Amino acid sequence: MSILITGGAGYIGSHLVKQLLEKNEDIIIVDNLSTGSMKTIDTLTKIGNFKFIEENLKNFTKIEEIFKNNNIDTIIHFAASIVVPESMENPLKYYMNNTVNTINLVNIANKYKIKKFIFSSTAAVYGEPVSVSESGISEEDETNPINPYGNSKLMSENIIKDTALANKYFKYVIFRYFNVAGADINYTNDELTPRIGQSFPNATHLIKIASECATKKRDKMSIFGNTYNTNDGTCIRDYIHVDDLANAHIKAIDYLDDNASEVFNVGYSKGSSVKKVISTMKKITQNNFKVNIQDKRAGDPANLISDNRKIINKMKWKPKYNDLELICKSAFIWEQKLKNL
Ligand SMILES: NC(=O)c1ccc[n+]([C@@H]2O[C@H](COP(=O)([O-])OP(=O)(O)OC[C@H]3O[C@@H](n4cnc5c(N)ncnc54)[C@H](O)[C@@H]3O)[C@@H](O)[C@H]2O)c1
Repeated sequence: MSILITGGAGYIGSHLVKQLLEKNEDIIIVDNLSTGSMKTIDTLTKIGNFKFIEENLKNFTKIEEIFKNNNIDTIIHFAASIVVPESMENPLKYYMNNTVNTINLVNIANKYKIKKFIFSSTAAVYGEPVSVSESGISEEDETNPINPYGNSKLMSENIIKDTALANKYFKYVIFRYFNVAGADINYTNDELTPRIGQSFPNATHLIKIASECATKKRDKMSIFGNTYNTNDGTCIRDYIHVDDLANAHIKAIDYLDDNASEVFNVGYSKGSSVKKVISTMKKITQNNFKVNIQDKRAGDPANLISDNRKIINKMKWKPKYNDLELICKSAFIWEQKLKNL
């Protein structure tokens, strides 16, 4: 039986592919390379064998052919458009690519009696939490997305849940990722040498931008607001290493054998401020790049930390890289490598 991975040429999907190849799983990647890269696919082929199909999920007939021609029992659905500001400017792109294409994929999944569906959702479905308990945002907290990206993902979640209610054989795990960062933890002669990482330029992620400054691809970066009600006045986020996140998907495949469908936050339940991330990057790279302070951005909550007790207790997920220095170091080394690719 094969595992179909949409978006496997992208940042997070490729880290899962790497881990599944190391377990000799049978994998089919579908990706249109809109933000994913052929170089990533080439690197993955050095780790193991898999099928790569360059196709857009919107081509429903072509996608159905993949199911006709292969014996698929699990779908892991990463493919999406993911840039929040772009989703405000072009909401329909997000509803088409994220929601409509998910409906189609779930529809085909039903037709071919797929048993397991694992979906990449996001902490953006929580919007700006009104009050957050000491232990962070829990899966039971209210969802209230404040941009089309978050809405497109919450709508997809509901479509998947409703489908599972109506079809008993169809089970899902929905993961709400917090801030994903870092690159492939791989050592050569005791030296950290990531083979894959976040490749797409113009990313809006803080650690990616700080890595670009540290590698001199940018000359400066901004902090948006330093008067939040936090220890140093800057926003606090829960940064999770991409390999730990990928590993949660591997656990989910087995989890669905004996357990019911579920929604899980994936994060470390630990916050780091924007200033802390920047000072960590500067310390590790010995580069004192320029940082300026700008106004707060609309819709940036002061504190976004996951309550991860559910995934730890129910799925027995054990993160290994809960270490901001390692996250920044792996992101920085990958960024240096990207410069020469
Ligand atoms: N990166 C984060 O911090 C983060 C946080 C929360 C949730 N997520 C979710 O995780 C998933 C993966 O994100 P990522 O950071 O790896 O992004 P990414 O852009 O690196 O990967 C997305 C992949 O999907 C492919 N793709 C997009 N639309 C497609 C289509 N119509 N048909 C076929 N392939 C298509 C792209 O080419 C790319 O390879 C997304 O669903 C995203 O919403 C990411």
